[in-house]
Amino acid sequence: MKHKITTFVLLFIASNVFSQQKTIDEKVEELLKKMTIEEKVGQLNQYTNDANPTGPLVINPNKQEEIKKGLLGSMLNVMGADRTRKYQELAMQSRLKIPLLFGLDVIHGYKTTFPIPLAEAASWDLEAIEKSARIAAIEASATGIHWTFAPMVDISRDPRWGRVMEGAGEDTYLGSKIAFARVKGFQGDKLGELNSVMACAKHFAAYGAAVGGRDYNSVDMSDRMLWETYLPPFKAAVDAGAATFMNSFNDLNGIPATGNKYLQRDILKGKWNFKGFVVSDWGSIGEMIPHGFAKDSKDAAYKAITAGSDMDMESNAYRNNLAQLVKENKISIDIVDDAVRRILRKKFELGLFDNPFRYSDVERQKAQMNNPEHTKIAREVAAKSIVLLKNEKGILPLSKDLKTIAFIGPMVKPKRANHGFWAIDVKEIDSSYIVSQWEGLVNKIGKKSKLLYAKGCGINNDDKSGFKEAIDIANQSDVVIVSIGERHDMSGEAKSRSTINIPGVQEELVKELQKTGKPIVVLINAGRPLVFNWLADNMPTIVYTWWLGSEAGNAIADVLFGDYNPSGKLPMTFPRSEGQIPLYYNHFNTGRPSMNDNDIIYKSTYIDSPNSPKFPFGYGLSYTSFQYADLKLSKSAISKNEQIVVTMNLTNTGKYDGAEVVQLYIKDKLGSVVRPVKELKDFQKVFLKAGETKNITFTIDNSKLSFYNDKLVFDSEAGEFELMIGTSSEDIRLNANFELVD
Ligand code: NOJ
Repeated sequence: MKHKITTFVLLFIASNVFSQQKTIDEKVEELLKKMTIEEKVGQLNQYTNDANPTGPLVINPNKQEEIKKGLLGSMLNVMGADRTRKYQELAMQSRLKIPLLFGLDVIHGYKTTFPIPLAEAASWDLEAIEKSARIAAIEASATGIHWTFAPMVDISRDPRWGRVMEGAGEDTYLGSKIAFARVKGFQGDKLGELNSVMACAKHFAAYGAAVGGRDYNSVDMSDRMLWETYLPPFKAAVDAGAATFMNSFNDLNGIPATGNKYLQRDILKGKWNFKGFVVSDWGSIGEMIPHGFAKDSKDAAYKAITAGSDMDMESNAYRNNLAQLVKENKISIDIVDDAVRRILRKKFELGLFDNPFRYSDVERQKAQMNNPEHTKIAREVAAKSIVLLKNEKGILPLSKDLKTIAFIGPMVKPKRANHGFWAIDVKEIDSSYIVSQWEGLVNKIGKKSKLLYAKGCGINNDDKSGFKEAIDIANQSDVVIVSIGERHDMSGEAKSRSTINIPGVQEELVKELQKTGKPIVVLINAGRPLVFNWLADNMPTIVYTWWLGSEAGNAIADVLFGDYNPSGKLPMTFPRSEGQIPLYYNHFNTGRPSMNDNDIIYKSTYIDSPNSPKFPFGYGLSYTSFQYADLKLSKSAISKNEQIVVTMNLTNTGKYDGAEVVQLYIKDKLGSVVRPVKELKDFQKVFLKAGETKNITFTIDNSKLSFYNDKLVFDSEAGEFELMIGTSSEDIRLNANFELVD
């Protein structure tokens, strides 16, 4: 009897507790009811920490007071658990104690720095990419960061644009897969887990198509191009559960993205049913004034909120005008409430109302910043991101028994150079942990071989006074490794270049070294595809290392000495000259296609340059060789609801174990609108031991055959298709035709 009573009491308490448990939506509504219009507007306002601005800074001496009054929803660029805690304490002095959200550009790692995103894309390794984002989240979240402004999922076909370094390159299919993997990596299992940060898909939309590759410039494109090429990675980010979006600086067909209702309300929050919130880019609400789209700050605030921008990063347009706009009945309070709701919901999901300090944990920060597992993975991802462009005389891999090695160039000794533009400011953290390229070589071979160093020249000046020393040590060596390229601040935001050569006298240095007759390995460090025709035509061995992060030195040494067999493939086309840009593999055929580089008369060509790229999309060599054979299609004709199973055998025919990225392209031969010459529709990265064969399977279904037709409806059309499987977009090894029937 006593037992029965206890059970009854427990059940009663449990059901009571259960009925008191409110959903997040209920909690948001309850809080919203208590908020004044000024407090609501405060939630839509975001300020930078003055110490580390990432845009044009306007000092506001009242920041702290505003936080205490509950007039700020979020801050960016606050670094470190103690500082995020300090600001959060100010927010806890406000009337409603609504916690701040801390955002930061954690683009490719926090302390442990991974390769720049474009380099990681060259790995075509979705698991590795997800892992790198996961580690970035683990480290950032321990410092109190709730939110990273990543991934950047902008497709770009223009290497003059400095921000190509931040994305996944030119291809929509690869870019969408990577967008998905990065969002999953940042957010982990669930928002609210202590090691999860909110992802932010940016920049919505079409920022990567800025005219002339000039940052912040206008974008003019057809709706078909927008939907087919530029939007899918954003949709993939929504599908992966991205908590937030950032809009972009550019205008799209005359309407600034920040004030663009079609993008933000109709597509993102409407058709895609996105439940998170949209943050503006830095000052982009206010920038609608110089765009000539808003009369003044009040008009800009009106246009941005109406179009669906929820949070104002650094323009003060919402702070100064939104309450007034509501009071004057120019905008409805419902529109403000909708934006506030979206932001509060995320704060609840992150668990900040239960404990606003839960992420700012000095002890966890200390532990995660020195996690050897993170370093190990950074080294692996860096090695996977390296692309071997040439290895004609089999100079690589280098023997570990070489007597003397000369390591020459301006990128050999610096540490910061390996980090690239968007790395978290290493001054804040101490840069000693970054493995320079020199240290990587010393770690690998320093005990066995004599290593000689000369800088040779700077990165971007014309001083040749160091050439002689470089030539002297080259003459004393069995092999010369030269490391040259772009300085870490030559690609990135506001780093567009009209000439994308290897700057300064670096190429001249290599020309002089060539005269020594020694075997030379050239390492090119850069944030984008560069033009380097002389090197490409005259140097037998070229390794594209991009900017590889804190384990750069070790990863480069792993590849040079064959401890990792390079497997990277270019995620962007490398042009022969800037004049060819935009140059991309999935172009249309035109009515007058040229069939080869000599076929130029009355053809769609230049009279002074071939159409072909210097290195095509999907290209990259290995120390081993792969044979593609035995292509089989389960059917040669299918209807829309059927699938074709494609199989083939891949054999490692060389001497080294290694991985190959098998790429599947499809061409739709005839359509109601013109279709590209080929489009990547699938790929697999396959590891094979020397001599091993694996059977590879792909599946083709209707989604791989569909496109935006003449009515802008995503659908397939009956007809003939060509299937191509290859080792790059230009080196197709197997092909077959199949048909889609009504
Ligand atoms: C401007 C950049 O366009 C954006 O990507 C970045 O997240 C913000 N600044 C904040 O730093």
